[in-house]
Amino acid sequence: MLEQKLKEAFYWFHQNPELSYEEYNTTAKIRELLEGEGIEILPYRLETGLAAVIRGEKEGPVQALRCDIDALPIKEESGLSYSSLCPGKMHACGHDFHITAGIGAALLLQGKKEELKGSVRILFQPGEETSLGALKMLETAACDGVERIWGFHADPTNPVNTIGIREGYVSAAVDRFVVTIKGVGCHGAHPDDGTDPIPAAAAMVQAFQTIVSRNVNAFHPSLLSVTRIQAGNTWNVIPETACLEGTVRTMDRDDRKLYEKRLREIAEQTALAYGAAAEVEWIPGPPAVYNDGGMAELGRKKAQELGFLTVEEERSLGGDDFSFYEEKIPGCYIKIGTGQGQLIHQPGFQVDPRVLLPAAQYLAELIRDV
Ligand code: NI
Repeated sequence: MLEQKLKEAFYWFHQNPELSYEEYNTTAKIRELLEGEGIEILPYRLETGLAAVIRGEKEGPVQALRCDIDALPIKEESGLSYSSLCPGKMHACGHDFHITAGIGAALLLQGKKEELKGSVRILFQPGEETSLGALKMLETAACDGVERIWGFHADPTNPVNTIGIREGYVSAAVDRFVVTIKGVGCHGAHPDDGTDPIPAAAAMVQAFQTIVSRNVNAFHPSLLSVTRIQAGNTWNVIPETACLEGTVRTMDRDDRKLYEKRLREIAEQTALAYGAAAEVEWIPGPPAVYNDGGMAELGRKKAQELGFLTVEEERSLGGDDFSFYEEKIPGCYIKIGTGQGQLIHQPGFQVDPRVLLPAAQYLAELIRDV
């Protein structure tokens, strides 16, 4: 009965993906499904997304479960009968699964309200793919008084009935940088008349990699990728500026500061060495996701009690804005095996619907254990 309901909901969400901050129909559908079961929606002002609450009849803590709801601008090529009906948009990160499992957990908890200790807020969060959607939820009072928060993600590297969990850092802080190198433009045949910013840019791309190889503790996972390089627009003119853009991923807080410091030094001093000048813009994103030891332990124990296979969660230098909640609340971010196949953000990514009910049961049981 519940399983059928969840499958139908999942197919609907999968067929109707909406991009970050455009999740209007998704939000309306979540509201309809929850209100139809008598679940209270909290009156917070959110353009998209919503927070629901299940109030237990026994004394206990306030907990939260985060479910992200947005999709990606990817053309689906999964071949599924319930593929996206929205051209160029796809739930390629499994957030349709997150929504459905969150609804399932809400229904299960609602059904056992008499025994539930404390209350549970289910946060259907918009805009995770922008890395900043959690801040929208945090601007409301949805997290006030919350004592622990659970997050989870679809994992296409593990079969259904597998839970990946680990304590400590599981994903990276996500920072972005833009370096603008200013030289003096001139004729391509007379470089001596100007200051070519391109050799300075090329030297920087090389030198930045020495941050990871020479400055960071070799036992700390981190990386720097230059992902865009832009200068000039024709073959016989030396441009005035060159631009480099990229991302830095770190797990350790001090490494994050070290990268910013070294990146600025290398950019500015290298530019100077080539007679140019560099301006560095450092754009911080979410911090690293950190799993509370006690919560991770409980997550593992519950999974085993319910008959899941538990594995050590793979660490990733990807990020998740779940970490913004963890700046205020102890949290744990769990990977739920959704059937092995194409990885997330790929056009053939898919979630095996057989995971829906067990995932909902697992999440509800985790929350009930206080
Ligand atoms: Ni995701």
